[in-house]
Amino acid sequence: MTQLPPEPGVPAHWGRAYTAPDVTVYYDARRCIHFAACVRGLPQVFNPDARPWIQAGAATAVEVAEVVRRCPTGALHYVLRDGPAEQSEPATVDVRENGPNFVRGDLTVSAPGGMVRDTRVALCRCGASSNKPYCDGTHRQIGFQAPGGEKLNRS
Ligand code: SF4
Ligand code: FES
Repeated sequence: MTQLPPEPGVPAHWGRAYTAPDVTVYYDARRCIHFAACVRGLPQVFNPDARPWIQAGAATAVEVAEVVRRCPTGALHYVLRDGPAEQSEPATVDVRENGPNFVRGDLTVSAPGGMVRDTRVALCRCGASSNKPYCDGTHRQIGFQAPGGEKLNRS
């Protein structure tokens, strides 16, 4: 298992690569708000106490991909060696109590670095993120309070 910078052809905003023979997991720490859907889903793969913390080969590639898709913020992405690529879901906006808007779908995000395509993002709702338009978890530190909607996503 190796940790590598992004490969050519993979969007730079996907972050660092963690490779196994059948799957590569990409992780952007700036978009991780420690929601832990990954840790709960496959603790042998996503282990904050291990170095590197992602062991992409510790489960089947299909299992890894399924848990990566649970990441509500888009901090995690994957590429399967034998495909298919992640398919976008019907568009949803999941307004989280005291937190961000979790958005899923075939997304084009107008980010400071340019337009990026994505399938999952957490958009800052408190105004205090240092990584806007994405949530970076600062809402917890500032005690942001706002009602949420009915829970939509798997996360
Ligand atoms: S599910 Fe995504 S946001 Fe949550 S801890 Fe894992 S990588 Fe971070
Ligand atoms: S909603 Fe999370 S940092 Fe603003």
